[in-house]
Amino acid sequence: MKKVCILYDTVSGSTAEIAEILKDELSLRSCSVTIMSIAKNCDLDDFDIVIIGSPLRFGGFTSRIRKFIRKNRDKLRAKPLFIYITLLYLTRIDNNSPFEMQCYIDPSLEVTSFVKNEASSMDVSHSLAYYHNKMAHHLQGIHPLGIAFLNGRLIIEKLPLLTRLFMKIVIRLTTKEKEGDFINPSAVKEWAIEISSYIH
Ligand SMILES: Cc1cc2nc3c(=O)[nH]c(=O)nc-3n(C[C@H](O)[C@H](O)[C@H](O)COP(=O)(O)O)c2cc1C
Repeated sequence: MKKVCILYDTVSGSTAEIAEILKDELSLRSCSVTIMSIAKNCDLDDFDIVIIGSPLRFGGFTSRIRKFIRKNRDKLRAKPLFIYITLLYLTRIDNNSPFEMQCYIDPSLEVTSFVKNEASSMDVSHSLAYYHNKMAHHLQGIHPLGIAFLNGRLIIEKLPLLTRLFMKIVIRLTTKEKEGDFINPSAVKEWAIEISSYIH
């Protein structure tokens, strides 16, 4: 039985909730799954496979996830690694997918494609290419086997005051990032099946 660790960061709870759905699905498929908050000390040596879940923050990982990646770079290079990102808005520019690894996109994100010169700066800063560049910068030398973009949740009142004000402005500027709960369990389950087909 493979030992899987799901490490997550969360503010509004969706990345944590997705970890539970992944755990249930992977447990049905001969995996022993431990879920851990990124705030806790985790020794990756105890596990065969690592799954990291991060809410998207301005197109990249949260600061706690970035710090964890920095601290555990060598171990993460040596382990089968999967990453999931919870987010609210995803575009493609010129239909590009810059990811070299397997990339799963939650259908409920309803990705919109743009031709480069017709995309607004908001659309560009929510594109697969933009997210890829930010994440690649932090992953340097770490090669996940797969990455999933999963619909998340935004609960404004759970955010710190300044972030709350900032997000209210963002919501006014883009109709795509909005408050609400958009978790799509069937997409999470579908990705769990993809993961298990890699590891068995
Ligand atoms: C400060 C901030 C920045 C965010 N940046 C993005 C972003 O660049 N793209 C996006 O689609 N969603 C963005 N989001 C939305 C979150 O990624 C989404 O709500 C996520 O599901 C939250 O995860 P959690 O419920 O585990 O906290 C942002 C949210 C906050 C509060």
